[in-house]
Amino acid sequence: MKHPISRRNLLAGAPLALTALAADTPADTGGKPAMLGGPKAFKGAFPGWPAYDQTEERALIDTLRSGKWYRGSGQTVGKFEQAYARLTGANYCLATANGTSALFTSLNALGVEPGDEVLVPPYTFVATINVVLRQHALPVFVDTDLETFQMDARKVEAAISPRSRAIMPVHLGGNACDLDTLLAIAAQHGIPLVEDACQAHMAEWKGRKVGTYGQAGCFSFQASKNLNSGEGGAILCGDEDLRERCYAFHNNGSGLKYIGTNFSYNSSGANLRMTEFQGALLLAQMTRIEAQAKTRTENARYLTSLLKDIPGIATARMYDGCTRNAYHLYMFRYDKTRFAGVPRSVFLKALAAEGIPAASGYTPLNTQPFLKNMLASRGYQRLFPQKVLAEWQDRTRCPVNDRLCEEAVWLTQTMLLAPRSAMDQIADAVRKIQNHAGELVKA
Ligand SMILES: Cc1ncc(COP(=O)(O)O)c(C=O)c1O
Repeated sequence: MKHPISRRNLLAGAPLALTALAADTPADTGGKPAMLGGPKAFKGAFPGWPAYDQTEERALIDTLRSGKWYRGSGQTVGKFEQAYARLTGANYCLATANGTSALFTSLNALGVEPGDEVLVPPYTFVATINVVLRQHALPVFVDTDLETFQMDARKVEAAISPRSRAIMPVHLGGNACDLDTLLAIAAQHGIPLVEDACQAHMAEWKGRKVGTYGQAGCFSFQASKNLNSGEGGAILCGDEDLRERCYAFHNNGSGLKYIGTNFSYNSSGANLRMTEFQGALLLAQMTRIEAQAKTRTENARYLTSLLKDIPGIATARMYDGCTRNAYHLYMFRYDKTRFAGVPRSVFLKALAAEGIPAASGYTPLNTQPFLKNMLASRGYQRLFPQKVLAEWQDRTRCPVNDRLCEEAVWLTQTMLLAPRSAMDQIADAVRKIQNHAGELVKA
């Protein structure tokens, strides 16, 4: 496997602990890299995830004892929806089983159909693309902005065709995409914008929470996320009719307003409902969300101030409109030419030896073989003209993204919950590796 460390399994082995255990000892910056026999730059342990205490235990036990485990009989999911709408400033919130079902429900409710096209970034988790494919629609990839890691809004216009039915950017890593430009293009073409905010809880664009700008904004509460209920998701929207359509879709086709006879339905749908247990956990986890977000921001800013002086390290830039980054990921690009040609894979190993787990991130989604297989399938062959399928590969080349996938390095959000001294030690480790890069490249 080319990329053995993913965001999810970086966290999977973490111990369950509420407090950080980072060592406060100063790093030996002058010493050799740990990979060459020197002392580790970071000798502590990064905070475990999830963070929980009796608040979560009580919430789960109360739900268990209530015997009301399903949103149809209990009120906890409804309470969570109200609380999340309040937190984000959204008119409506609908909780779902997970982030994938939030995206899938939104696309259905907004009328994305087989034979349509949806504009997506190639630098994202595969679920962003899978929901488009589940609709038998065509994902049209828009190249990435190398500096921000986000969908390049300047390239969206050229990717639009008469089949385009939605634009679905991702606020990747919790850093906001260029919403102003994307919203203007969507409005100009009369197509909805669905924000994949699955990694962007608490992120803001011009002082307002992301997820509240597009027709729908989708969140994930999967275990690695900054707000976590193991699995879980939510859709934010401003429009009551859209909420009704989303509700119906996620509830087997039965909306809140539809008064039918027993076992009659107002649309087709699926069961994508959140359980009362997920709702209870989320309400408890939300008591910590603001403090955790603040710690991440402070540490990320400090780390950026340290890394910006290291040649060959380019931290992900934020657009001017991004007034708050959720820092689900701390992302930077690694230029090996400034590290004596040390390949990124060796740089990551050297960091791991220093006690700092880091990952190489996504591989290009637009060139995944499964996409070619989908397009060659009977269904796609029937739905799309040969010319559209034949031209798809050329149309969706993303050379900038290919480069980003070669250069990216990620740290996880939990590392940003460590004491500030850990940020010094991360930067010390990078400096140490750079200072001894000539020896590392030969090792
Ligand atoms: C950008 C993005 N979109 C969608 C999803 C899907 O969310 P879930 O795993 O909750 O289904 C994720 C989750 O990892 C994600 O990171």
